[in-house]
Amino acid sequence: MKKIALLSTAFLFSISLLYAQPANIIEVSTNHINYLFTGTPGATLYQNYLGTSLKKESYGNLKDATEAYVGAGMKDVFEPAVRVVHADGNPSLDLRFVKVQTQKTNSNLTETIIYLKDPVYLTEVNLHFKSFYNEDVITTWTEIINKEKSNISLSHYASSMLHFNADKYFLTQFHGDWAREMDMLESELTSGIKIIDSKLGSRANMYQSPVFFLANNRQATETEGEVIAGTLAWTGNFQFLFEIDRTNRLRVLTGINPFASTFSLKPGETFSTPEFIFTYSNSGKGQASRNLQKWARKYAVLDGEESRMTLLNNWEATHVKFDEEKLVELFDGAKQLGVDLFLLDDGWFGNKYPRNDDKTGLGDWQEDRKKLPNGISYLVKEATAKGIKFGIWLEPEMVSPKSELYEKHPDWVLKLPNREEAYQRNQLILDLINPKVQDFVFDLVDKMMIKNPDLAYIKWDNNRFMTNTYSPYLKKDQSRLYIDYTLGFYKIMQRIRAKYPHLPIMLCAGGGGRTDYGALKYFTSFWPSDNTDPVERVFIQWGYSNFFPTNTISSHVTSMGKQSLKFRTDVAMMGKLGYDIKVNGMTPDELSFSRSAVQNYKQLSPIIWFGDLYRLISPYEQDRAVLMYVDSTKNKAVLFSYNLYLRKKQIFEKVKLQGLYPQKEYLIKETNLMPGSLAENPENGKLYTGEYLMNIGLNVSPAKLKPVTSTVLEIISE
Ligand code: GLA
Repeated sequence: MKKIALLSTAFLFSISLLYAQPANIIEVSTNHINYLFTGTPGATLYQNYLGTSLKKESYGNLKDATEAYVGAGMKDVFEPAVRVVHADGNPSLDLRFVKVQTQKTNSNLTETIIYLKDPVYLTEVNLHFKSFYNEDVITTWTEIINKEKSNISLSHYASSMLHFNADKYFLTQFHGDWAREMDMLESELTSGIKIIDSKLGSRANMYQSPVFFLANNRQATETEGEVIAGTLAWTGNFQFLFEIDRTNRLRVLTGINPFASTFSLKPGETFSTPEFIFTYSNSGKGQASRNLQKWARKYAVLDGEESRMTLLNNWEATHVKFDEEKLVELFDGAKQLGVDLFLLDDGWFGNKYPRNDDKTGLGDWQEDRKKLPNGISYLVKEATAKGIKFGIWLEPEMVSPKSELYEKHPDWVLKLPNREEAYQRNQLILDLINPKVQDFVFDLVDKMMIKNPDLAYIKWDNNRFMTNTYSPYLKKDQSRLYIDYTLGFYKIMQRIRAKYPHLPIMLCAGGGGRTDYGALKYFTSFWPSDNTDPVERVFIQWGYSNFFPTNTISSHVTSMGKQSLKFRTDVAMMGKLGYDIKVNGMTPDELSFSRSAVQNYKQLSPIIWFGDLYRLISPYEQDRAVLMYVDSTKNKAVLFSYNLYLRKKQIFEKVKLQGLYPQKEYLIKETNLMPGSLAENPENGKLYTGEYLMNIGLNVSPAKLKPVTSTVLEIISE
């Protein structure tokens, strides 16, 4: 320092410029995020920074340097990103920087590849990054390449390794069970390891969803705090591992769960991990969600920027007990409601073992001749004649032990040799790793579509997870079973999509057991939960809204729960609206309300699906939930307010809105009212400036508060 002090100012300036952006800094950046590394050929690759974007002049000040992607077996004693055992038994990987390649694919997308290799062993690792400038989203994955002459063994293979250096770390996880999906829980991380994972194989996120928020220094709210929102694009076993080391630094490893999946990489073989998707916001979780939703609609969900059909599903109305006549009658219900499509659920198939309960028939995808003597094509024709489209339920990855498929192909099933078969919902999983099984699944969809080209929708279910698992196709080496099952599923979906690129398919897994961006490439929406009680749904849909766009979150009006039809409808309208209800059980008022609700939804859905979501009051914090969607012009918004279980004389304060133009005037209009009911919201018909609404707020509740009631408000600027 003393020496520098003696130098002339001009020289100092040039030194600081030199330090300002060291030549070996690698930038993975978006509009508001910098993810910075230092790569010097032959040396370790370091992560220097991940957070809000900095001026380049500040790069030189970055003192933090953590090995970016740690190979096991060398100096680092905490959790590694990758672990390799070489043919000679050497269990170490020393990754050194080779080069970086950056390509601007278009004005929004930059792709970066950082090449690493071991100086002694011919194992190479490429770190891939895609940065989406406008949406502030980065996706990252890793390739591990064996250039050695023999097999190497691979037991850890993270998609990403992120490092943080903060005072405190708060993790929000989303967990649950069947009928209790996406429960939100925030806790402070402490020294050591916290893992969120799945070992369930199929229906993989039944207990834990592959999504999280991580807030640094202090808990993030919807509008404040530094937060990362992350998710893995993988429809199988995943693992998020959070480790705080002895210096209070945090490393976050994401990827496929290495559980029971140590496998050999052959000479010349490359293993590619799935993508980890994340965004960073320094203004809370709300912005992080909006970033992910915008990105997902554009880049991750099939036809994510397209509209969706409203539908009537027969599941909760009939279960498997129906016949042709009953179904055709139900079409009238769909017509009366004014929805676009009728969806025939489980129970339409099987002849030797007809599907009259959940014990038989899975795998025998022929129409039940007793229930449907004229087949699916008749139903499609009848529906079309009534002006509605027709869709069908399939569970193609499964087989009932009582089925012709099982009798013909007992070796197509995942099950342990020399042990009793283990059932869940009386069913077994097909061995999707076997190419013949892949053909079978593709063919069943293909044949169905060839026979019924007007079939307009599929609900693709998956009602069990893997236990007692063994693939007869893989024989002695079962090490890639979990990985190859998911890859087998993707291969099938790729074939279906190559031939039927835009057919809407809803992903379902015994409720919300499969909700991830690995699958949403091929699916247009998902089924969040079999729990359709609307109070429960407020929480469940709230959970999903943190990571997924609204047009993917199927939300149906059903008879579950004792709440008013208005409340049930208003809750379903915050997502992708559908019905699963006996329409002929509705009173004339209820039917007329539902008809206008469907019309109303058609008019409001562009805002609900494609607008910006602002979660205003969380049901986790108050006995109500309030959220709003604002369209891109900020001229129109829709607000949903749900009062849950209330105390006597409960008081709710005004709610400050978000996302409006401060200077514009907005008209408040209550909508979705029961026939003959007058608006109950005291603000109905009033005009306010955006500034007022955002700083002082709006009374979103009716004058007389009642439990389990709801209000829908349109906020319109002329
Ligand atoms: C699962 C789904 C339901 C319904 C049934 C049919 O439970 O989540 O929506 O399709 O299967 O058996």
